[in-house]
Amino acid sequence: MKVTVVGAGNVGATCADVLAYREIANEVVLLDIKEGVAEGKSLDIWQKSPINLYDTRTIGSTNDYSKTAGSDVVVITSGLPRKPGMSRDDLIETNAGIVKQVTENVVKHSPDAIIIVVSNPLDVMTYQAHITSQFPRTKVMGMAGILDTARYRAFLAEELNVSPKDIQAVLMGGHGDTMVPLPRYTTVGGIPVTELIDKSKLDEIIERTKFGGGELVKLMGTSAWYAPGSAAAQMVEAIVRDQRRVFPVCVKLEGEYGIDDVYLGVPVILGKNGIEKVIELDLNDDEKKLLEESRNHVKEVMEVLDSKR
Ligand code: LMR
Repeated sequence: MKVTVVGAGNVGATCADVLAYREIANEVVLLDIKEGVAEGKSLDIWQKSPINLYDTRTIGSTNDYSKTAGSDVVVITSGLPRKPGMSRDDLIETNAGIVKQVTENVVKHSPDAIIIVVSNPLDVMTYQAHITSQFPRTKVMGMAGILDTARYRAFLAEELNVSPKDIQAVLMGGHGDTMVPLPRYTTVGGIPVTELIDKSKLDEIIERTKFGGGELVKLMGTSAWYAPGSAAAQMVEAIVRDQRRVFPVCVKLEGEYGIDDVYLGVPVILGKNGIEKVIELDLNDDEKKLLEESRNHVKEVMEVLDSKR
């Protein structure tokens, strides 16, 4: 299996590193427009292989897409990260142009690839990759739900002083402040979380999750990378190993949840064909309302993109 990661910044390099040391693909190509950066980082990852014992080949490329030819999966991390005080939506103008150009090259060199978008604003950049590639919705998706859910699970594990491995959760909606964590679908070793934590504490954790990316931007002056890069690698793994994992993924909705033509995070089954199935949960009225608000926000930003096309 050949996987390309476009963008050798912190998120792209982390993703390539996880793909390599977990031997998720035989070959990982890291590409960037900055001269030498992708070559340097992929060489560094390759030189780690005798220490950490893996044989995935990592190859770097300065904007030469011929090296990415025939990739099975392409992860797009290109674009600017946000700075403190910015919302993800503030990145739309710059990043839409970048994602468009990258996608054109992906289509040219890897016409059968499955595309995973990581660039922000996530839902709308996934839409951009879809309109540029014209690939079916099963093959163009965005990484955000795994990341947002991981933050939620990590906060809960810390509060309950239990292993994060035992927290299972679903989170829906756009990758922004309107995301929708679902306590009703959150369990700790099979026990509903609501039986283990006060409502006020749970509400606090939900709020912290919604602003989880912003918390890190404030601390570091730039966006996070370890969890986002690892989350993207986990999606690649589910696809290349045909694991049929159930993850929240940003996908184009075509009538599910009463929503049409909007890219939004919902639970799906992820396997060798990409999105194998969109799972429709039986949401209650409050949850439906929150999802609708999130949909409206993403749709507004999609319209901003449409008005500039
Ligand atoms: C994240 O959630 O970490 C990413 O979307 C980056 C960001 O700017 O928050």
